[in-house]
Amino acid sequence: MTSEKQRSPQEEAKLNQIRATFQKRKQIDESLSNIKHKIGVYSGKGGVGKTTVSVNLAVSLANKGYKVAIFDVDIDCPNVTNILHHNSPPSSPKEGVFIPSSRFDVKVMSMAFFHENEEEATIWRGPMITNAINQLVLMTEWGELDYLIVDLPPGTSDGPLTVLQTLNLDGFVIVTAPQDISKLDAIRSINMIKKLNQKVLGIIENFSGTIFGSGAGKEISEKFNIPMMGTLSLNADYRRGNKPTVLTNTTVKEEYNKIIEQLSKELIN
Ligand SMILES: Nc1ncnc2c1ncn2[C@@H]1O[C@H](COP(=O)(O)OP(=O)(O)OP(=O)(O)O)[C@@H](O)[C@H]1O
Ligand SMILES: [Mg+2]
Repeated sequence: MTSEKQRSPQEEAKLNQIRATFQKRKQIDESLSNIKHKIGVYSGKGGVGKTTVSVNLAVSLANKGYKVAIFDVDIDCPNVTNILHHNSPPSSPKEGVFIPSSRFDVKVMSMAFFHENEEEATIWRGPMITNAINQLVLMTEWGELDYLIVDLPPGTSDGPLTVLQTLNLDGFVIVTAPQDISKLDAIRSINMIKKLNQKVLGIIENFSGTIFGSGAGKEISEKFNIPMMGTLSLNADYRRGNKPTVLTNTTVKEEYNKIIEQLSKELIN
């Protein structure tokens, strides 16, 4: 075995980097250790309803009495706070610690709380995105939770990759719209998750109905042999009011109840 003295400066630097990464992973695992289930909501395609699903799923679970938090890891375009109509930032009782505030009984953590102007474009390179996600996780005191719902940004680059590599989630719920182009991107995200040896818990088809059609979710479910978690119809109520739609529309509430039933089955397996 090589002794400390024989290592070149390059070898030593590499080793230190590995140690630092390992240490950070350990800290992240510890900070998330009081959470029973950690679920990512993801799709390669933008605008398919990931944030809408994350918020309504979190609120539905909280309504059933579970302790729930939502973590918006869309660092450059965070939208969870908008959908929740929530603008109370986390409290910070001491330096380096955030205690998330709650909305509709869901604890909320999002980069949106740290943007000075919500219309400003945040242009961050990969390592900055990775650091921001790691930092937010490490500084947040989540407390005991039954569910942490993680709302991912679209794409298959730095944000999703960091989540896949560091948060050690139970698995991912994939959202697709009925259209072919969305189906293709959902398939890409499933392949990325599989490549990184993570679990796909199931697939949800959103915007389903006569206007955009239906069936993409079922096709993907059959292609990959993954559970079809539910179908969410296109519904004008998502545009109305200042509450998540599960709290105002009984059809939507029922759709989410079915998803929660399927999700619970998958989490037991
Ligand atoms: N089933 C639905 N019926 C009608 N409108 C919907 C439905 N689901 C989502 N929407 C609307 O579609 C828009 C996009 O949804 P959302 O922001 O949740 O998508 P996203 O996948 O998170 O987007 P991004 O990739 O930008 O993060 C929102 O205005 C939302 O209200
Ligand atoms: Mg989103």
